[in-house]
Amino acid sequence: KVYNVIMAGGGGTRFWPLSRQEVPKQLINLSGNDALINETINRINSLSSKENLFIVTNKKQGEALKNIVKDKCIHENILMEPCARNTAAAIGFAAINIMKKYGDGIMCVYPADHYIKDEEGFTKVLKKAIKIAEQNDKLITIGITPTFPSTGYGYINFSRENQVSEGAYEVLEFVEKPNFDKAKEYVDSKKYVWNSGMFVWKASKILEDFKRYLPKVYEKLEEINDCIGTDCQQEVIDSVYPLIPSISIDYGVMERSNDVVVVPGDFGWNDVGSWDSLGAIYPTDNEGNIKRGENITIDTDNSIIYSDDKLISTIGVSDLIVVSTNDAVMVCRKDKAQDVKKIVEILKEKN
Ligand code: GDD
Ligand code: MG
Repeated sequence: KVYNVIMAGGGGTRFWPLSRQEVPKQLINLSGNDALINETINRINSLSSKENLFIVTNKKQGEALKNIVKDKCIHENILMEPCARNTAAAIGFAAINIMKKYGDGIMCVYPADHYIKDEEGFTKVLKKAIKIAEQNDKLITIGITPTFPSTGYGYINFSRENQVSEGAYEVLEFVEKPNFDKAKEYVDSKKYVWNSGMFVWKASKILEDFKRYLPKVYEKLEEINDCIGTDCQQEVIDSVYPLIPSISIDYGVMERSNDVVVVPGDFGWNDVGSWDSLGAIYPTDNEGNIKRGENITIDTDNSIIYSDDKLISTIGVSDLIVVSTNDAVMVCRKDKAQDVKKIVEILKEKN
């Protein structure tokens, strides 16, 4: 049995002011086609049935999410976290729900907010990963050939000699979000691939690894597990979930486990993680600009001009991100796009 699990509870803070806590990036129609979450669901539909699709999200975003996914999934399988406790908790929460309700099976875990060009290539790679997870107690990652020294991704070094099965390799080292110098070293070495953020494993296997590498997370998951299906389910989730240590699956399990396998696969993958990555979705004009909404740009190049409402006009600027929504304006140097989340942090402190 194969279960699709979408992690859709991130704050999407790097797309402020377009993304907000209640309406994060995955619920926004960034591509002009459909909300990223719906594009994700459409892409994975052929790998498992609608009944076996789980979405883990934050209570605050739950209603907005339901309105957007509509009947693309069973609403009962939208798992609501009372608060965000990062991806290890989200994955563990999905795993115990799956085990309890349907029994063990292969869990395919996806971020909600990626852009993939070659869907056929993607499906092929995922099918291969599912097969390997069925036959081995391994944690399967999908590797992407890196194109620049990003500090926002995980890096995977693998042994080309040590094939687990055709096109799948034993992982030597998993490094989450290295600093720039390390990232550059990894990319230059040509030995590393990026972690795509998608994972394939048995539900029972990942829970075993939680027990081993994240015992404090596991302990809380067990408490929640005991109450699933009982009358006090919601009460226990509300009181125990906030106590789960906040750590990502990458730092918590992937960096520590010796059972990681990578299937390298290139299918036009793009993590539309921040404003500067919009080029993955939109074409740039002759000046290298990406523009949405009303605008006048004079002597402007290599910039992103994004307006939801007002007219944006620029003169003589380069490498800028200018975003306007009904209640906020943001201007940012393109190479500082990762720091947009700092604005959100400051806003949180103020409120
Ligand atoms: N339900 C839930 N709860 N989902 C969450 C939470 C949470 O607390 N936190 C994050 N997510 C969701 C996000 O919405 C996103 O879809 C996914 O989990 C990954 O979280 P990100 O915050 O976007 O992670 P990242 O981009 O910094 O890093 C991960 O992805 C990279 C590739 O895009 C890592 O896996 C890296 O190793 C990887 O390279
Ligand atoms: Mg991300």
